Amino acid sequence: MALLEDKTALITGAGRGIGRGIALAFAREGCRVALVARTLDELNETTQLAADLGGEAFPCVCDVAAPSQVDNAVNMVLHRFGHIDILVNNAGYACFKPFTEIAIDEWRHTLDVNLTGPFLVTQAVLPSMIARRSGRIINVSSVAGLKPIAEQSAYCASKFGLNGFSLALALELRAYDIAVHALCPGGVATRLADEAMPERDKADWMTPEDVAQAALYLATLSPRATTDVLHIRRFDSTPLGAS
Ligand SMILES: NC(=O)c1ccc[n+]([C@@H]2O[C@H](COP(=O)([O-])OP(=O)(O)OC[C@H]3O[C@@H](n4cnc5c(N)ncnc54)[C@H](OP(=O)(O)O)[C@@H]3O)[C@@H](O)[C@H]2O)c1
Repeated sequence: MALLEDKTALITGAGRGIGRGIALAFAREGCRVALVARTLDELNETTQLAADLGGEAFPCVCDVAAPSQVDNAVNMVLHRFGHIDILVNNAGYACFKPFTEIAIDEWRHTLDVNLTGPFLVTQAVLPSMIARRSGRIINVSSVAGLKPIAEQSAYCASKFGLNGFSLALALELRAYDIAVHALCPGGVATRLADEAMPERDKADWMTPEDVAQAALYLATLSPRATTDVLHIRRFDSTPLGAS
């Protein structure tokens, strides 16, 4: 039997990159997947790729930082699937530059997408999870939520915030048998990485499929066990805490 047979998931940022990788890994395991992002063409591509794997996908155009769009999207998904077993807050934005060059709009946009987005989507999904006393939330954070990185101050602020949000929510929601995980990847070769770090050679960087494997591990954990923070890094990168 497939690992996620009869399960449903809502995955934000599923139009490309890590979110698409997670959506396809889940679909391959029998999960019905709702796909959220702003670009319909990319959502349609992910939908078709999921269908090619025999999976069912439901594309939903939505800006995770816009409260009314989030409410509409989650209502549509609940109407279509009945319930949501797994929420993956993955949509993200990165602008890497020296602190003094960060415009207030870039600072706000980073926090809006990376931190307020998970807040809004989680608030919209959670009542239905609490009613069923069942659910799992995976917040795709970053190694930038675990250690300081120069010229990534806005991104670090958002991802440290997301990790704090995840840990506090894990504590609060254990009473409802709902698990919350922060998944913290290092460098992954995606458009976000290309745009934020165009000068870096990404030949040895992780792929979205590598991160999807870690997300699948979290999604299929025994209900008797949990993982608060899962750090997955490039094999050649430095372990956390090493100098
Ligand atoms: N790549 C890395 O090295 C790396 C490392 C650690 C963590 N991460 C994290 O992994 C997550 C995914 O990043 P990625 O590298 O896969 O990036 P990506 O390839 O650029 O994909 C980002 C996805 O998020 C969506 N998105 C962006 N803003 C959105 C918004 N306001 N509302 C809804 N959807 C939105 C994008 O679609 P639209 O633009 O169409 O909305 C796209 O589908 C992010 O949270 C990122 O911080 C990435």
